[in-house]
Order: sequence, then structure tokens, then C-alpha cells
Amino acid sequence: MINIDNEIHLYITKPEEVETSDLRKYKDLLSSDEIERHDRFKFDNLKNNFLITRALVRTTLANYLGCDPKSLKFETNSYGKPSLRGISFNLSHTDGLIVLAITGSKKIGVDTENLNRNITDIDIAKRYFAEPEYHEIKACSEIDRKYKFLEFWTLKESYIKAVGKGLSIPLDKFYFKIKGDEIKIHTKEDSLSWQFKMSKINDSHLIALAFEGAEMPDIRTYQTIPMVKIL
Ligand SMILES: CC(C)(COP(=O)(O)OP(=O)(O)OC[C@H]1O[C@@H](n2cnc3c(N)ncnc32)[C@H](O)[C@@H]1OP(=O)(O)O)[C@@H](O)C(=O)NCCC(=O)NCCS
Repeated sequence: MINIDNEIHLYITKPEEVETSDLRKYKDLLSSDEIERHDRFKFDNLKNNFLITRALVRTTLANYLGCDPKSLKFETNSYGKPSLRGISFNLSHTDGLIVLAITGSKKIGVDTENLNRNITDIDIAKRYFAEPEYHEIKACSEIDRKYKFLEFWTLKESYIKAVGKGLSIPLDKFYFKIKGDEIKIHTKEDSLSWQFKMSKINDSHLIALAFEGAEMPDIRTYQTIPMVKIL
């Protein structure tokens, strides 16, 4: 078993880079539940993204745990967060990108969003975000508004995913302040025990990471195609 208590490893896959011949290998890794989920998708691109995601999660985590990818048995909490004994991880997918974040034992959450998605930012922010976030978005120029909105969105998602309670945590009960690389959460819970990192990894994708700990550990990022290559 590989120990990464003081690190976060981020694995990034672009589905467009996966060859059709690889997809066949991926299907062999699935559990019977996953095969049922796969078969329920109506469109090929969704089926393929599901296969790539499962292959990324299974092969990568099995490598850390020193076991066969197919043998992994995931548990899920009552809010749907999957987990495994011995390692902490979280997953996010959006148009064109799949991201898997792994660390030793601390809670971790990851979210990625496609910056080209069509959203009515200001209305959603007014309705669901905390007031300071809404005012900050509103104060932005038309051109910066969507980006600011998506920054808050990915951060908020990364946090609720790290906690593992999904949208049962009201999104207006906590808010973020971003000053360059410094990101602070404001919440009635213990704000100091959470660290955040946000990166725009290409023209289209934003990634936010939430980590429960007094300091953000080193983050290593790998671009990967499951069972083919890791860069
Ligand atoms: C899971 C959730 C928190 C985020 O989902 P999402 O942003 O749509 O999707 P992502 O791709 O980022 O994450 C999905 C993955 O997170 C994991 N996940 C599922 N439930 C989770 C939970 N409660 N906590 C953490 N991770 C969870 C799963 O691995 C899932 O992928 P899988 O089904 O392929 O295994 C979900 O509660 C949700 O539906 N959010 C709605 C999004 C929204 O409206 N946000 C408002 C703006 S902040």
C-alpha cells in the first residue's frame, strides 16, 4: 500500500484522448452494479465516459492499495459519497474532463466545471449562494461575472463533497473569499481546519480542491489514460 498522508494526488483524464480499443478493456473491470448502470445510459458518449471514469477510479486506487482493480468494493454513505477503507478520494466529471483526487486519510473533495457551460449565473447565485458571494458576482463586469460565479460554484461543490453530505448542506450557509491564491471559507463550523486550492487547468476547465487539515499538502497532478499512460 502506498502512503500519501502528506500529499494529494490529482489524476486527470480527457475522455477524447481515449481510444475505442481501450474501452473494451475497461468494461472487464466493472462490477455487476456498474454494468447495469452502464447499460442504462442511452447515448454512446455517456456510456463511454462512464467506462473511462470507472477505469480511472478502479485502476488508480487499486495501484495505491496494491490490489486487483476489479476486486475493489466501494461503500457509499447515505448522501451517495463513495469510499474505500485505507484511502481517501473523491471524483468529479464535467464535459471533457474527469478528475480523481486522492489522499491518505483526511477528507477530500474535488469539483471540476466546464467554463463554457451555459448558465444563468446571477439568478442562481441570488437564489442559492450566500449574500457576500452574490454581491461579489453582481459587482463584476458582464465579462467577468460567469467566471467569478463558476469559481464560487466549484469551491462550494468541492467543500460539500469533502464533507460528503451533498446538497443537504445549504449553499447559503457558508461562503468563500478569494484573494489571489488565498481562499478562505466562512462558516459556523471550524473554518480553520479547511484548505482550498483552485486551478484553471486549460481554457475550458476549472478545478477546485477541498482538504480537511491545518495546511494544504503538496499536490501532484498527473494526466492519464487509464491502463495506457500516466504523464
Ligand atoms: C455529488 C454532488 C455533490 C455533486 O455532483 P455533481 O457536481 O453533479 O457531479 P461531480 O461530477 O462533481 O461528482 C459526482 C461524483 O461525486 C461522488 N459523489 C456522489 N455523491 C457524493 C457526495 N454526497 N459527496 C461527495 N462525493 C459524492 C461520486 O463519485 C460521483 O461520481 P460517480 O457517480 O460517477 O461515482 C451532488 O450532490 C449534486 O447533485 N450536486 C448538484 C450540483 C448543484 O446544483 N450545485 C449547485 C451549485 S454549488
